[in-house]
Amino acid sequence: MKVRKAVIPAAGFGTRMLPATKAVPKEMLPVLNKPCIQYIVEEAVYSGIEEILIITGRAKKAIEDHFDRSPELELHLEQSRKSTMLTEVQAISDLVDIHYTRQKTPLGLGHAILCAKSFVGNEPFAVLLGDDIIQADEPVTRQLLSQYQDTDRALLGIQPVPTKDVSKYGIIEPVKGTAATNVPLPVHRIIEKPSEAEAPSNLAVLGRYVLPPTIFDALEDTPVGHGGELQLTDAIERLAALNLVDAYQFQGIRHDIGNLEGWLKANLAFGLEDPNLASSMRAWLADDHIRSRLASF
Ligand code: UTP
Repeated sequence: MKVRKAVIPAAGFGTRMLPATKAVPKEMLPVLNKPCIQYIVEEAVYSGIEEILIITGRAKKAIEDHFDRSPELELHLEQSRKSTMLTEVQAISDLVDIHYTRQKTPLGLGHAILCAKSFVGNEPFAVLLGDDIIQADEPVTRQLLSQYQDTDRALLGIQPVPTKDVSKYGIIEPVKGTAATNVPLPVHRIIEKPSEAEAPSNLAVLGRYVLPPTIFDALEDTPVGHGGELQLTDAIERLAALNLVDAYQFQGIRHDIGNLEGWLKANLAFGLEDPNLASSMRAWLADDHIRSRLASF
């Protein structure tokens, strides 16, 4: 069965990016001149997804406005003959069929996914976290979908992370005797934000999933977990206990724009690759004044 639908959770408070996120949704913070969530919607579209549900909440109206038509702006661009910009602005609203639902209180990622139950129905679906951009030659969701065979199983996008950072992620334990390669790896267990001592590996789930519809039953049976939130990881662990979870090591550089360091690195990384910015950015970084500032830290 083709995976046609994707869910993008974007209802969190974004407290780590305050005060920027007091009135602006974290998912709308720009990386260069594009809001984070547009990169994510584009990844889904370039991966063959036909319908998207964005989970929003109070104070997230800017997300809906961004993907909607803007007649006044379009008229202004037309009258001032800014045709390239007009085409670009119109293309955003024509990208794909986007639906929205509100998570009334942000009770955790698992709870946000549960809000997608009626949209998803009885099909497998992709999940792309609203604050994780992945720079990749082949869109990461497409990489996962090309490996997804069995519609009863979950497939998690993973990459190794430094051991000191395991407590920031869901960490998998592969089935004994298997190693991360370019094929899906059966998962024995998954733990949300383990300590270094508890972590069964350094393979972290990084913001991309393909999930079977049975995840909703698992979520409904899962108690509140780490941080007092309903954790998606805990529901996936229930599927892992039934040998129904695989993990795939995707190719790409993942940026978590939900923290200042990740957001800044994303801007630098995209800036250094942007044809209009790359040479001036490189020249700026090589400037004597900047180099001596960097050397002084
Ligand atoms: P995060 O845990 O990174 O988001 O969730 P957060 O809760 O906004 O972060 P902080 O700790 O307050 O800074 C990853 C993604 O899941 C969404 C977020 O919007 C983000 O895109 N999310 C998280 C929800 O949609 N609902 C939730 O209850 C929690």
